[in-house]
Amino acid sequence: MEEKRLELGATAAFGLEGVVAGELKRLGYEDAKGFHGGATFRGSLTDAFRAGLNLRCADRVLIYLGRFEARSFDELFEGVKAIPFEEILPKNAFIHVTAKCARSQLMSVPDVQSISKKAIVERMKRVHSMGWLPEDGERYGIDVHIHEDRVAVTLDTSGQGLSRRGYRTFNAEAPLRESLAAAMVTAGPWRPWLPFFDPMCGSGTLCIEAAMVALDRAPGLLRPFDMEKWDVTDKAACAALRAEARERFEAKKALGPVPVFGSDIDRRAIEMSETHLRQAGLNGLVQFRRQDIKDAVNPFPDAEKPGVVCTNPPYGERLLDEKQAAELYKQLRALTDRMPGWGLCAISSHKDFERAYGKRADRKRRVYNGRIECEIFNYYPERPPRA
Ligand SMILES: C[S@@+](CC[C@H](N)C(=O)[O-])C[C@H]1O[C@@H](n2cnc3c(N)ncnc32)[C@H](O)[C@@H]1O
Repeated sequence: MEEKRLELGATAAFGLEGVVAGELKRLGYEDAKGFHGGATFRGSLTDAFRAGLNLRCADRVLIYLGRFEARSFDELFEGVKAIPFEEILPKNAFIHVTAKCARSQLMSVPDVQSISKKAIVERMKRVHSMGWLPEDGERYGIDVHIHEDRVAVTLDTSGQGLSRRGYRTFNAEAPLRESLAAAMVTAGPWRPWLPFFDPMCGSGTLCIEAAMVALDRAPGLLRPFDMEKWDVTDKAACAALRAEARERFEAKKALGPVPVFGSDIDRRAIEMSETHLRQAGLNGLVQFRRQDIKDAVNPFPDAEKPGVVCTNPPYGERLLDEKQAAELYKQLRALTDRMPGWGLCAISSHKDFERAYGKRADRKRRVYNGRIECEIFNYYPERPPRA
């Protein structure tokens, strides 16, 4: 039986909405449109699973259950109660409601949360002729987002955020979120067939994300999703998508190591990178080495094409001071000068990154790394001089 078409959404960090819309289009969702906070697209419940399994730069995949306007708690209650939750939620669903309010009449998050929950419970009790709901079943995360008095009620299919791929258990100092690392890897100068080098790799996030792209490893392959436990989910279709993703990865993995290399001055960082690589199921496919960026050279001198240095150096905020950070950016320039033809993708909040690096970026993208406003600086590889 054909599954119902739903309005779906993939949430994204500020600055990555267009990147996520692009990922959805590449997955075949031609109608994907970026909006403030993510991208929307249409598809079935199985498409929601497919998106969660494959999206690298998004935070969560949601189902839009209803939209309406509300300027009073009565309007909110009636609007939520009119949504046919019983089409997805079972009688014993554990209903977890969150809320966000901005520029609206209704601005009290706890009140919006409790009134919405009451409305859902009221509806479910009426539809199922029950006096109370046991709520001892699977978790259904419902979010009520009010912006300029317009309410969007969504159901989260992911559970843990999509950044949680399942490989990162230790955090280096100032680690990069996996979805942001994936955006640097996929929306900058690097291409999956080119060499990749992170000379300040910390816990290895950028290298592991690049290796996963090069090996066609779906980012969600090792993790569970809330929707896999739901009654309405076509579990056989989800299992088939997982199996197909595993096959794609195994076929690429059989070809051997990828030209991805990470180094860091800190021995513990290298140990963490190796642990994470193992936990990602990529053992032996990427090389890590302890070294100071001052001593770094092209790790792939025999490669057919020059590659891309991609890195998250200290910004002079959490690690090092601004002067020391600027000194490292000079070292980064010295390194890329020793590697003619290579491109660079670097993220920093340092106001003088380009001055310290000594060159204006070809393209910049403003993003947030946690709470820190940063820019991604992209330098595209130069063509090698004619012989
Ligand atoms: C912001 S952290 C990188 C975090 C990493 N992207 C992650 O997700 O875990 C910056 C890294 O630069 C490294 N670093 C600082 N000075 C260095 C130097 N002179 N040579 C190489 N690495 C250096 C630090 O040890 C630290 O791991």
